[in-house]
Amino acid sequence: MILVFGSLNVDLVVPVVRLPVVGETVLGEGYRVAAGGKGANQALAARRAGADVRMVGAVGRDGFAPVALYDLAEAGVDLEGVTSVDAPTGAAFIGVDAEGRNQILVASGANRFASAEQVEESWLRPPGLLLLQMEVPLAENWALLKRARAAGLSTMLNVAPAGPLPEAVLPLIDWLVVNEVEVLAVAAAAGHRTQDPQRAGRLLADAGGAVLVTLGAKGAVAFAKGKVWRIEALPVDPLDTTGAGDAFVGTFAAALDSGNDLASAMAWASVAGSLACTVAGAQPSLPDRAAIVARIDEIAPAQCLSW
Ligand code: RIB
Repeated sequence: MILVFGSLNVDLVVPVVRLPVVGETVLGEGYRVAAGGKGANQALAARRAGADVRMVGAVGRDGFAPVALYDLAEAGVDLEGVTSVDAPTGAAFIGVDAEGRNQILVASGANRFASAEQVEESWLRPPGLLLLQMEVPLAENWALLKRARAAGLSTMLNVAPAGPLPEAVLPLIDWLVVNEVEVLAVAAAAGHRTQDPQRAGRLLADAGGAVLVTLGAKGAVAFAKGKVWRIEALPVDPLDTTGAGDAFVGTFAAALDSGNDLASAMAWASVAGSLACTVAGAQPSLPDRAAIVARIDEIAPAQCLSW
Protein backbone atom coordinates (compact mmCIF):
# COMPACT_ATOMS: atom_id res chain seq x y z
CA MET A 1 0.00 0.00 0.00
CA ILE A 2 1.22 3.48 -0.86
CA LEU A 3 0.16 6.30 1.45
CA VAL A 4 0.28 9.70 -0.25
CA PHE A 5 0.09 12.78 1.98
CA GLY A 6 -0.12 15.81 -0.28
CA SER A 7 -1.96 18.40 -2.30
CA LEU A 8 -5.18 18.20 -4.28
CA ASN A 9 -5.85 20.97 -6.80
CA VAL A 10 -8.00 21.92 -9.73
CA ASP A 11 -5.86 22.99 -12.70
CA LEU A 12 -6.99 25.78 -15.03
CA VAL A 13 -4.83 25.34 -18.11
CA VAL A 14 -4.40 27.97 -20.84
CA PRO A 15 -2.54 26.89 -23.99
CA VAL A 16 -0.56 29.89 -25.32
CA VAL A 17 1.89 30.42 -28.16
CA ARG A 18 4.53 31.55 -25.66
CA LEU A 19 4.71 32.05 -21.90
CA PRO A 20 4.52 35.64 -20.57
CA VAL A 21 7.47 37.51 -19.06
CA VAL A 22 6.97 39.51 -15.85
CA GLY A 23 4.33 42.21 -16.33
CA GLU A 24 3.19 40.86 -19.71
CA THR A 25 -0.28 39.64 -20.77
CA VAL A 26 -0.44 36.84 -23.32
CA LEU A 27 -3.75 35.81 -24.87
CA GLY A 28 -4.82 32.18 -25.29
CA GLU A 29 -7.90 30.94 -27.14
CA GLY A 30 -9.49 29.02 -24.28
CA TYR A 31 -8.81 26.96 -21.19
CA ARG A 32 -9.26 23.44 -19.81
CA VAL A 33 -10.23 22.40 -16.30
CA ALA A 34 -8.68 19.20 -14.92
CA ALA A 35 -7.82 17.68 -11.57
CA GLY A 36 -4.26 18.22 -10.39
CA GLY A 37 -2.01 18.82 -7.40
CA LYS A 38 1.29 17.01 -7.03
CA GLY A 39 0.00 14.76 -4.25
CA ALA A 40 -3.15 13.74 -6.10
CA ASN A 41 -1.31 13.33 -9.40
CA GLN A 42 1.28 11.03 -7.85
CA ALA A 43 -1.42 9.04 -6.04
CA LEU A 44 -3.27 8.56 -9.32
CA ALA A 45 -0.10 7.68 -11.25
CA ALA A 46 0.72 5.01 -8.65
CA ARG A 47 -2.82 3.66 -8.76
CA ARG A 48 -2.90 3.54 -12.56
CA ALA A 49 0.44 1.70 -12.48
CA GLY A 50 -1.23 -0.97 -10.35
CA ALA A 51 -0.63 -0.05 -6.68
CA ASP A 52 -3.12 0.13 -3.82
CA VAL A 53 -3.11 3.79 -2.82
CA ARG A 54 -4.53 5.83 0.04
CA MET A 55 -4.63 9.63 -0.36
CA VAL A 56 -4.53 12.00 2.63
CA GLY A 57 -5.06 15.73 2.17
CA ALA A 58 -7.64 18.51 2.26
CA VAL A 59 -10.16 20.07 -0.11
CA GLY A 60 -12.65 22.90 0.38
CA ARG A 61 -16.42 22.74 0.68
CA ASP A 62 -16.87 24.20 -2.78
CA GLY A 63 -17.65 23.26 -6.36
CA PHE A 64 -13.99 22.54 -7.13
CA ALA A 65 -13.74 19.76 -4.50
CA PRO A 66 -15.61 17.10 -6.53
CA VAL A 67 -13.53 18.02 -9.59
CA ALA A 68 -10.29 17.54 -7.61
CA LEU A 69 -11.44 14.14 -6.33
CA TYR A 70 -13.18 12.70 -9.40
CA ASP A 71 -10.30 10.88 -11.16
CA LEU A 72 -8.92 9.52 -7.88
CA ALA A 73 -12.31 8.06 -6.94
CA GLU A 74 -12.82 6.63 -10.44
CA ALA A 75 -9.45 4.89 -10.29
CA GLY A 76 -10.13 3.37 -6.86
CA VAL A 77 -7.78 5.46 -4.70
CA ASP A 78 -8.88 5.24 -1.03
CA LEU A 79 -10.07 8.75 -0.10
CA GLU A 80 -10.99 8.13 3.55
CA GLY A 81 -8.08 10.35 4.58
CA VAL A 82 -9.18 13.40 2.58
CA THR A 83 -10.88 15.98 4.75
CA SER A 84 -13.06 19.01 3.89
CA VAL A 85 -12.10 22.36 5.41
CA ASP A 86 -13.35 25.96 5.38
CA ALA A 87 -10.98 27.18 2.66
CA PRO A 88 -11.19 27.05 -1.12
CA THR A 89 -9.99 23.88 -2.84
CA GLY A 90 -6.43 24.38 -4.08
CA ALA A 91 -6.17 25.74 -7.62
CA ALA A 92 -3.33 25.96 -10.13
CA PHE A 93 -3.21 28.48 -12.98
CA ILE A 94 -1.11 26.96 -15.74
CA GLY A 95 0.13 28.39 -19.02
CA VAL A 96 1.41 25.84 -21.55
CA ASP A 97 3.38 27.02 -24.59
CA ALA A 98 3.66 25.56 -28.08
CA GLU A 99 6.66 23.43 -27.02
CA GLY A 100 4.78 21.91 -24.07
CA ARG A 101 6.65 23.95 -21.44
CA ASN A 102 4.64 25.38 -18.57
CA GLN A 103 4.46 28.13 -16.00
CA ILE A 104 2.42 27.37 -12.87
CA LEU A 105 0.94 29.54 -10.12
CA VAL A 106 -0.60 27.59 -7.25
CA ALA A 107 -3.18 28.97 -4.81
CA SER A 108 -2.76 26.48 -1.96
CA GLY A 109 -6.15 27.10 -0.32
CA ALA A 110 -7.33 24.00 1.55
CA ASN A 111 -3.94 22.31 1.14
CA ARG A 112 -2.65 24.68 3.84
CA PHE A 113 -4.80 22.81 6.35
CA ALA A 114 -3.66 19.27 5.53
CA SER A 115 -2.51 17.74 8.81
CA ALA A 116 -0.40 14.72 9.75
CA GLU A 117 -3.03 13.99 12.40
CA GLN A 118 -5.42 12.93 9.64
CA VAL A 119 -3.25 9.81 9.27
CA GLU A 120 -4.48 7.02 11.54
CA GLU A 121 -1.82 4.89 13.23
CA SER A 122 -3.25 1.74 11.58
CA TRP A 123 -2.46 3.25 8.13
CA LEU A 124 1.25 3.22 8.96
CA ARG A 125 1.57 -0.56 9.34
CA PRO A 126 4.31 -2.04 7.11
CA PRO A 127 4.83 -3.16 4.45
CA GLY A 128 4.19 0.08 2.63
CA LEU A 129 5.58 3.35 1.43
CA LEU A 130 4.88 6.95 2.45
CA LEU A 131 5.05 9.37 -0.49
CA LEU A 132 5.41 13.12 0.17
CA GLN A 133 5.83 16.30 -1.89
CA MET A 134 6.19 19.96 -0.87
CA GLU A 135 2.73 21.48 -1.50
CA VAL A 136 1.33 20.95 2.02
CA PRO A 137 2.62 22.47 5.30
CA LEU A 138 6.16 21.22 5.63
CA ALA A 139 5.98 20.80 9.42
CA GLU A 140 3.13 18.31 8.83
CA ASN A 141 5.24 16.48 6.23
CA TRP A 142 8.13 16.11 8.66
CA ALA A 143 5.88 15.05 11.56
CA LEU A 144 4.38 12.29 9.40
CA LEU A 145 7.78 11.29 8.06
CA LYS A 146 9.01 10.64 11.62
CA ARG A 147 5.93 8.57 12.46
CA ALA A 148 6.19 6.54 9.25
CA ARG A 149 9.87 5.76 9.79
CA ALA A 150 9.26 4.80 13.41
CA ALA A 151 6.47 2.48 12.23
CA GLY A 152 8.76 0.82 9.65
CA LEU A 153 7.39 2.21 6.36
CA SER A 154 9.66 3.08 3.43
CA THR A 155 9.69 6.79 2.69
CA MET A 156 9.91 8.79 -0.54
CA LEU A 157 10.05 12.59 -0.87
CA ASN A 158 9.64 14.46 -4.15
CA VAL A 159 11.10 17.89 -3.36
CA ALA A 160 8.64 19.73 -5.59
CA PRO A 161 8.32 22.63 -5.55
CA ALA A 162 11.93 23.06 -4.44
CA GLY A 163 12.57 24.11 -0.86
CA PRO A 164 15.17 23.60 1.85
CA LEU A 165 14.99 20.45 3.95
CA PRO A 166 15.78 20.59 7.68
CA GLU A 167 19.01 18.73 8.48
CA ALA A 168 17.16 16.09 10.48
CA VAL A 169 14.91 15.19 7.54
CA LEU A 170 17.36 13.82 4.97
CA PRO A 171 18.36 10.74 7.02
CA LEU A 172 14.66 9.80 7.30
CA ILE A 173 14.17 9.57 3.52
CA ASP A 174 14.82 6.31 1.69
CA TRP A 175 14.12 7.76 -1.78
CA LEU A 176 14.66 11.41 -2.62
CA VAL A 177 13.30 12.32 -6.07
CA VAL A 178 14.27 15.68 -7.55
CA ASN A 179 14.64 17.38 -10.91
CA GLU A 180 17.77 19.23 -12.02
CA VAL A 181 16.70 22.48 -10.36
CA GLU A 182 15.40 20.93 -7.16
CA VAL A 183 18.54 18.88 -6.53
CA LEU A 184 20.70 22.03 -6.59
CA ALA A 185 18.39 23.76 -4.11
CA VAL A 186 18.45 20.80 -1.71
CA ALA A 187 22.22 20.37 -2.04
CA ALA A 188 22.87 24.10 -1.48
CA ALA A 189 20.71 24.08 1.64
CA ALA A 190 22.70 21.06 2.87
CA GLY A 191 25.94 23.05 2.41
CA HIS A 192 27.15 21.57 -0.90
CA ARG A 193 28.55 24.19 -3.28
CA THR A 194 27.99 22.79 -6.78
CA GLN A 195 26.05 23.80 -9.89
CA ASP A 196 26.20 20.29 -11.37
CA PRO A 197 22.89 18.47 -10.73
CA GLN A 198 24.45 15.01 -10.96
CA ARG A 199 27.28 15.87 -8.57
CA ALA A 200 24.67 17.37 -6.22
CA GLY A 201 22.66 14.14 -6.37
CA ARG A 202 25.70 12.06 -5.55
CA LEU A 203 26.70 14.30 -2.63
CA LEU A 204 23.20 14.00 -1.18
CA ALA A 205 23.24 10.21 -1.61
CA ASP A 206 26.57 10.07 0.26
CA ALA A 207 24.64 11.33 3.27
CA GLY A 208 22.04 8.58 3.36
CA GLY A 209 19.25 7.25 1.15
CA ALA A 210 18.99 6.88 -2.61
CA VAL A 211 18.68 10.00 -4.77
CA LEU A 212 16.94 10.03 -8.14
CA VAL A 213 17.48 13.04 -10.39
CA THR A 214 15.03 13.37 -13.28
CA LEU A 215 16.60 14.90 -16.39
CA GLY A 216 13.57 15.59 -18.62
CA ALA A 217 14.09 14.32 -22.17
CA LYS A 218 17.47 12.88 -21.08
CA GLY A 219 15.83 10.37 -18.71
CA ALA A 220 16.97 10.03 -15.10
CA VAL A 221 19.94 9.08 -12.97
CA ALA A 222 19.90 7.38 -9.57
CA PHE A 223 22.60 7.35 -6.90
CA ALA A 224 22.18 4.44 -4.50
CA LYS A 225 24.49 2.32 -2.33
CA GLY A 226 27.69 3.43 -4.10
CA LYS A 227 26.30 2.88 -7.58
CA VAL A 228 25.00 5.15 -10.33
CA TRP A 229 22.07 4.01 -12.48
CA ARG A 230 21.08 5.70 -15.73
CA ILE A 231 17.87 5.33 -17.68
CA GLU A 232 16.92 7.04 -20.93
CA ALA A 233 13.53 8.56 -21.73
CA LEU A 234 11.22 7.49 -24.54
CA PRO A 235 11.69 9.79 -27.53
CA VAL A 236 8.38 11.71 -27.71
CA ASP A 237 7.08 14.99 -29.15
CA PRO A 238 6.06 16.86 -25.99
CA LEU A 239 2.59 18.39 -26.10
CA ASP A 240 2.31 19.32 -22.41
CA THR A 241 4.91 18.44 -19.76
CA THR A 242 2.56 19.27 -16.84
CA GLY A 243 2.36 16.24 -14.56
CA ALA A 244 5.24 14.37 -16.23
CA GLY A 245 7.31 14.56 -13.04
CA ASP A 246 4.33 13.31 -11.05
CA ALA A 247 3.85 10.41 -13.49
CA PHE A 248 7.53 9.50 -12.95
CA VAL A 249 7.37 9.66 -9.14
CA GLY A 250 4.02 7.89 -8.69
CA THR A 251 4.94 5.12 -11.11
CA PHE A 252 8.37 4.71 -9.53
CA ALA A 253 6.75 4.32 -6.11
CA ALA A 254 4.25 1.78 -7.48
CA ALA A 255 6.96 -0.24 -9.19
CA LEU A 256 9.08 -0.43 -6.01
CA ASP A 257 6.03 -1.22 -3.90
CA SER A 258 5.21 -4.19 -6.12
CA GLY A 259 8.72 -5.62 -5.68
CA ASN A 260 10.64 -4.35 -8.73
CA ASP A 261 14.34 -3.63 -8.29
CA LEU A 262 15.73 -0.13 -8.81
CA ALA A 263 16.65 -0.61 -12.49
CA SER A 264 13.25 -1.94 -13.40
CA ALA A 265 11.39 0.70 -11.35
CA MET A 266 13.39 3.42 -13.15
CA ALA A 267 12.35 2.00 -16.51
CA TRP A 268 8.68 1.98 -15.53
CA ALA A 269 8.93 5.53 -14.20
CA SER A 270 10.78 6.84 -17.23
CA VAL A 271 8.24 5.41 -19.67
CA ALA A 272 5.36 6.83 -17.60
CA GLY A 273 6.98 10.27 -17.43
CA SER A 274 7.62 10.29 -21.17
CA LEU A 275 4.08 9.20 -22.04
CA ALA A 276 2.63 11.89 -19.75
CA CYS A 277 4.26 14.55 -21.98
CA THR A 278 2.17 13.42 -24.96
CA VAL A 279 -1.28 14.18 -23.51
CA ALA A 280 -2.59 17.58 -22.36
CA GLY A 281 -3.22 18.17 -18.64
CA ALA A 282 -1.85 16.55 -15.49
CA GLN A 283 -4.24 13.78 -14.47
CA PRO A 284 -5.59 13.11 -17.98
CA SER A 285 -2.00 12.40 -19.07
CA LEU A 286 -1.06 9.79 -16.44
CA PRO A 287 -0.65 6.43 -18.19
CA ASP A 288 -2.04 3.16 -16.91
CA ARG A 289 -0.18 -0.10 -16.49
CA ALA A 290 -1.11 -1.42 -19.94
CA ALA A 291 0.17 1.74 -21.67
CA ILE A 292 3.47 1.50 -19.80
CA VAL A 293 3.94 -2.21 -20.50
CA ALA A 294 3.23 -1.60 -24.20
CA ARG A 295 6.23 0.76 -24.50
CA ILE A 296 8.71 -0.49 -21.89
CA ASP A 297 10.76 -2.57 -24.33
CA GLU A 298 11.50 0.58 -26.35
CA ILE A 299 14.05 1.83 -23.83
CA ALA A 300 17.32 0.12 -22.97
CA PRO A 301 17.58 -1.35 -19.44
CA ALA A 302 19.08 0.99 -16.82
CA GLN A 303 22.90 1.05 -16.94
CA CYS A 304 24.82 0.59 -13.69
CA LEU A 305 28.25 2.13 -12.98
CA SER A 306 30.32 2.28 -9.78
CA TRP A 307 31.03 5.70 -8.21
O1 RIB B 1 3.10 18.87 -11.05
C1 RIB B 1 1.98 19.43 -11.70
C2 RIB B 1 1.01 19.98 -10.69
O2 RIB B 1 1.59 21.07 -10.02
C3 RIB B 1 -0.25 20.51 -11.29
O3 RIB B 1 -1.26 19.53 -11.41
C4 RIB B 1 -0.63 21.65 -10.36
O4 RIB B 1 -1.81 21.45 -9.65
C5 RIB B 1 0.57 21.85 -9.44
O5 RIB B 1 0.35 21.34 -8.19
